[in-house]
Amino acid sequence: MKRILLVAGARPNFMKVAPIMWEMAKSSQECEPILVHTGQHYDVNMSQVFFDELRLPAPHENLEVGSGSHTWQTAQVMLRFEPILLKYRPDWVIVVGDVNSTLACALVCGKLGTRVAHVEAGLRSFDRTMPEEINRLLTDAIADLLFVTEESGRENLCREGIIPDKIHFVGNVMIDTLKLLRPRWEGSSIFRRLGLDPAHPYAVLTLHRPPNVDDAGVLMNLIKALRELAHHLPMIFPVHPRVKCHLLSQGHLVWSRLDSGESIPRKGLVGLDPLGYLDFIALMSRARLVLTDSGGIQEETTVLGVPCLTLRETTERPVTVTRGTNRVIGTDPGRIMDETLRTLDQPPRPVGSPPLWDGQAAARIVKILLDQSG
Ligand code: UD1
Repeated sequence: MKRILLVAGARPNFMKVAPIMWEMAKSSQECEPILVHTGQHYDVNMSQVFFDELRLPAPHENLEVGSGSHTWQTAQVMLRFEPILLKYRPDWVIVVGDVNSTLACALVCGKLGTRVAHVEAGLRSFDRTMPEEINRLLTDAIADLLFVTEESGRENLCREGIIPDKIHFVGNVMIDTLKLLRPRWEGSSIFRRLGLDPAHPYAVLTLHRPPNVDDAGVLMNLIKALRELAHHLPMIFPVHPRVKCHLLSQGHLVWSRLDSGESIPRKGLVGLDPLGYLDFIALMSRARLVLTDSGGIQEETTVLGVPCLTLRETTERPVTVTRGTNRVIGTDPGRIMDETLRTLDQPPRPVGSPPLWDGQAAARIVKILLDQSG
């Protein structure tokens, strides 16, 4: 029996850990999963709602680190994770994605000599000002097994001198969740609760990257362009906690409450509290267009066949551009206007999912882990 400890810390981790947990439940004679939540995200609508919807068991341990500077948060996760690792002494630790919790726990494994596997390894934006890029580079340098989602991941890792035997191209666990839960998100009541007719064109917007939202001037420039565009179709904007205070105080959004009984305005930038997984995927799946600075949303829109404009200068997920519906357009307001109108007019043609984004990534990962000797 192998004991495998999984780490989840922030919102984008939960839907990556879930299919691995589900898969391990099928092999309960061979492995014992231990789930650790670092508490990097802690609001109900950034964390608990995902545990409920993804039917994840309550974590065995919650480190309750909360928010702080990157250094503080990373150090706190490390300090609190070390005794957990000593308590459970797992055969393997699995870390996913690129958040501070990912790096912090991988680093503790490296110090204590515990084998660690990185799910979603090898992605590179080549922009070291992104905290996630530092987390990716360092986690991959420490990991004993590296599971990649796209061919670029393998190429990047080989270039960095990672031994090819450690690298496995397994597909994308986030897409496992999207595919496996399709009947549930297709049944979401979000349209009724928002008073939104999905047959009418609308766009979905998300923003949370520090360079886009932490400087009030940059954020306001973006919001001005997006409000202009929202004259053409309503733009629905579930607002990340780090952005909400900036925007509400300036009165730039119409704020909408779910279940208020009022229909969403036919035009304008409409703010909402963060949505749960099923509602958010349902909302994206029927959108004319998604504008985002997130990483995972570039992948989900690719599989949903929904046009995505990425409001960043780079992407670490090039397959979403070469094989998907994604265009990386930067943050210049004029360019955002032009590209949005062009995309509404001539949406990119979806060409199907990238290789191995077939809903089986977690099964491949668990098999490889269980096949490892020792
Ligand atoms: C983190 C990840 C980012 C990921 C994003 C998804 C890192 C370096 N960044 O960024 O890669 O795309 O999560 O959301 O790990 N806050 C709350 N409630 C919460 C969580 C956060 O109010 O439950 C507020 C706090 O004021 C906090 C701010 O949001 O200071 C930012 O949270 P933080 O965890 O520092 O980073 P994210 O911007 O969420």
